[in-house]
Amino acid sequence: RPVLVLNGPNLGRLGSREPDVYGAQTLEDLAALCRETGRELGLSVEVRQTDDEAELIGWIHEAADSKIPVVLNPAAFTHYSYALRDAIAQRTAPLVEVHISNPNAREEFRHTSVVAAVATGTIAGFGMRSYVLALHAIAELPS
Ligand code: DQA
Repeated sequence: RPVLVLNGPNLGRLGSREPDVYGAQTLEDLAALCRETGRELGLSVEVRQTDDEAELIGWIHEAADSKIPVVLNPAAFTHYSYALRDAIAQRTAPLVEVHISNPNAREEFRHTSVVAAVATGTIAGFGMRSYVLALHAIAELPS
């Protein structure tokens, strides 16, 4: 069963970006963790990252057209992208919003997610384990 793990802006810089908040592991480490978790769960996991809103929206459309479940870290788009929200609203399979940090424990502007209401659910605050938990949720949900 295919699953897309999609990452938004600045997540390509994991490892060097604010390591006190996001940890020392890189996007490649995260991708390896997701693929390994997928192998354990019988999911074929593909991990992508972009800084480009249009590209991310295109991937959400692709998942909707192919009924593919998604683990999505929308990064800063979480807080203001109605275009991303409208794309997610077209989903045809589960979509789990994930965050490495706990946005509700941070600055006020991070307390709003404009995508949460159209996601299946949200997992935040567990570091890269948030993605592992999200993949487990997808494995357990009917697709
Ligand atoms: C993030 C939280 C967002 O507020 C922030 O803009 C990010 C990363 C997280 O994974 O903790 O880029 O989505």
